[in-house]
Amino acid sequence: MKRVLVCGSNGLLGQRLAWLLDSDDEYEVLHSSHHRSFVQNEILIDYTQLDISNRSDVKSLVTSFRPDVILNAAAMTNVDACERERELAWKMNVTAVENLVEVCRKIDAKLVHVSTDYVFDGKTVTILKATGSIR
Ligand SMILES: NC(=O)c1ccc[n+]([C@@H]2O[C@H](COP(=O)([O-])OP(=O)(O)OC[C@H]3O[C@@H](n4cnc5c(N)ncnc54)[C@H](OP(=O)(O)O)[C@@H]3O)[C@@H](O)[C@H]2O)c1
Repeated sequence: MKRVLVCGSNGLLGQRLAWLLDSDDEYEVLHSSHHRSFVQNEILIDYTQLDISNRSDVKSLVTSFRPDVILNAAAMTNVDACERERELAWKMNVTAVENLVEVCRKIDAKLVHVSTDYVFDGKTVTILKATGSIR
């Protein structure tokens, strides 16, 4: 059975993924988010707290769960707050994704990262490499 790790399960997209994946027996799913518990109690899911900006926590959870796929729905999404708190926005939206990229490479897992047209115009393809180069 394929294993899926969802990051950001407490967000709008993450909660929807929890509903969708809950009824799917094809995958073993572990949901995670920054908050210590899952915000919805209508459905029972396997959930763990994970701050994806914490490199060692990401490494330790991913190397023990060994997902085939990581679905990343975690992000700092308030655009005005991102403009005001740029360092925090970089940590949440760049460094945290680098942590996922790095560990996916290590265990040969696929990463599905959801972005937004606030940063991606649909024209220029941007590949974030674990080595740090962005093109
Ligand atoms: N919603 C939309 O209509 C839409 C449209 C286009 C693109 N997107 C993209 O889809 C993605 C998800 O959007 P959304 O609307 O679901 O966002 P959201 O409702 O703001 O949820 C984001 C979640 O990310 C979690 N999070 C933040 N920092 C984290 C960290 N360091 N480690 C782990 N979890 C962290 C938060 O979890 P806690 O609550 O546990 O703290 C939060 O619930 C974003 O990249 C967004 O740009 C969304």
